[in-house]
Amino acid sequence: MIRFDKENQIIAIDTKNTTYAMQILRDKYVLHRYFGKKTKDVPLYEERLLQFSPYDAEISRSFSLDAVASELSFFGSGDLRDTGIKIKNRYGNSVTKFIYKSFRTFKGRIPFGDMPYSRNGDETLEITYFDDVSNCRLKSYYTVYYDTDTIVRYVVFENAGKDTLLIENALACQLDFENADFEFVCLAGQYYHERNITAYPLHFGKQSIYSERGHSSANANPFAILKSPAADENSGECYAAEFVYSGDFELQAELMYDKRMRFMAGLNRHTISWNLRGGDSFTTPETILTFSAEGLNGVSRNLHDHLRANVINPKFVYAPRPVVINTWEAVHFNINEDVLLKYADAAAEIGIDMLVVDDGWFGKRNDDTSSLGDWYLNTEKFKNGLESFSEKIHNKGLKLGIWIEPEMINPKSELYSKHPDWALQCPNREKSLWRHQLVLDMSNDEAVTYVANSIIETLKDVKLEYIKWDFNRSLSEVGSLAFDEERQCEIKHRFVLGTYKMHKMLTEAFPDVIFEGCSGGGGRFDAGILFYCPQIWTSDDTDPIERLKIQQGTMTAYPLSAISAHVSNTLINDYEDRPDYDLRFKVALGGVLGYELDITSLSPEEKKEAEKQIRLYKKLSGLILHGDAFRLSGLSDNEYGFYVLSKDGTEYYFEYYNLSDAPVQRLFEIKLRDEKVIIDTSKAVKYSGNKTLYYMFSCSIA
Ligand code: DGJ
Repeated sequence: MIRFDKENQIIAIDTKNTTYAMQILRDKYVLHRYFGKKTKDVPLYEERLLQFSPYDAEISRSFSLDAVASELSFFGSGDLRDTGIKIKNRYGNSVTKFIYKSFRTFKGRIPFGDMPYSRNGDETLEITYFDDVSNCRLKSYYTVYYDTDTIVRYVVFENAGKDTLLIENALACQLDFENADFEFVCLAGQYYHERNITAYPLHFGKQSIYSERGHSSANANPFAILKSPAADENSGECYAAEFVYSGDFELQAELMYDKRMRFMAGLNRHTISWNLRGGDSFTTPETILTFSAEGLNGVSRNLHDHLRANVINPKFVYAPRPVVINTWEAVHFNINEDVLLKYADAAAEIGIDMLVVDDGWFGKRNDDTSSLGDWYLNTEKFKNGLESFSEKIHNKGLKLGIWIEPEMINPKSELYSKHPDWALQCPNREKSLWRHQLVLDMSNDEAVTYVANSIIETLKDVKLEYIKWDFNRSLSEVGSLAFDEERQCEIKHRFVLGTYKMHKMLTEAFPDVIFEGCSGGGGRFDAGILFYCPQIWTSDDTDPIERLKIQQGTMTAYPLSAISAHVSNTLINDYEDRPDYDLRFKVALGGVLGYELDITSLSPEEKKEAEKQIRLYKKLSGLILHGDAFRLSGLSDNEYGFYVLSKDGTEYYFEYYNLSDAPVQRLFEIKLRDEKVIIDTSKAVKYSGNKTLYYMFSCSIA
């Protein structure tokens, strides 16, 4: 899997279909030589006279860091492009130059203790570099996942001296290309419009996607594809990178005048730096890299398989997910035991598996102005306690889920009145509110432990099968009273580490509970959260037309089993003048199903319809959890669609939507193991509300 050609000093990493290769030059530099289709022949670096470039006196003008493709790039020492690694030394300058020292390979990988990571791993390459001036060692890791064509990269800085260093840039994943011609494909959006696919040809200069919001965000996702212009959904060369992190990130491509291109991914350089004391080490989050010659679906499939096999908790990843009825869209904060027991009766009648009590069950929370931080039961709403409520729900044959938002604190809360120092804040600065709330200082271990334990205490004796973990605002005025001035630049990363610590505490306290991630809709849909939460609420926008775009984008990077999708009756688009439950259900089949509406008000016909839907969903759930999803190729902006094929090629389901006035005939071929199925979209059903729309659903399961 990892081979070394001693004569040419080439280290090559092979996966099932790809090769990634580097060359150690003159025992000093590690050059990037190849990433693409599997090959035995890696092109060697050819030394040649380079005009007008900085050069290494030992090597002379046949080599310049500024002119070569490198595995990592270091600030201020001859590579004059934007560089990924920068540390400030005791002399006060940030010139960085890590020189190659050695490499080794070993089976498996080194797991992270405090951050999400890809489990398993076939083999790992560790390259060690050293910077004499700063007295710092850098270890760069590449773990191979042979079957999924994925390579996971991260670096570790080790301060071997006594002086404190400042890590200013830690973009641990870099891909240098010569003669690049790519489109930069990313998932951009905002609240209610998360993860829309956005693609532009790379142009001279930099193009990036980043977050400085303290969470991965609805606006940008830590994911990008470099797509050859000729590639489509099913063919052509694509590279993809997914950063396994839930805070500030950046993924950037810079195209040079001469068509060289540098892609880098990692922690956001503007908002995160880290003091590395003598003897300490710092590990960056990892990036999952993949290449496919089978187009956008090829890289998506590799990532889906990787996330399912290695990132999402193996205990839950393929376990059937409960069909939930969530209270939020129907009643908001107006919940109480009596109302919910009626919901539970109606839900049980149609085959729903679980009642999820959303926001409003704790403290004195009757609206969004108070109580975040006060994680004890509101006994006015649940007079007999949660244990007894849960028992009643279970007696009706349902499971129970509950909502929390642990990383937030309302100024109007008992917690804040005792601990105003536990909110993120900067001295002498006003704190911005958002939905009346402040953000808990997750870098403060005392605050994290206290809140986690108070949630555990309240829920530990309650029979519970699901927890929805929300996060309803971005960060501002980021500072912590728990750290001195020097450490304030670390708070954004410490915040994320605190978030992960709390996820670890709660998931360990409730090992049989499925956690669903959420962030004011889908504002924290990333591989870091997926490590703890096998599914994530995709968007507060439950409108079927708008969801098409959101889900089509989300499935580019994340498997369908991660995409939480509910049928609601909220009307947002101008296509429907009444909720069309068939359309809404079909759209929700692009993920794991739930309902979010006043279920007691459904007519007998609607109840029957919902019952039928749930039966069908359960038949399809094997495909949703295990199958390969393919987005349909060649669609116009008005069309959406995908199909899911079982790994053994025996089963499929297919969805197609066309938002135009007339049906379009397109023929899609699904390659089953023993036959080919051709689907003709001119057979799509016409739905006529205010506007016309055609859609079709087809599946192999009776
Ligand atoms: C935002 C979430 O996206 C909603 O589903 C709901 O849980 C509310 N927060 C509750 O405050």
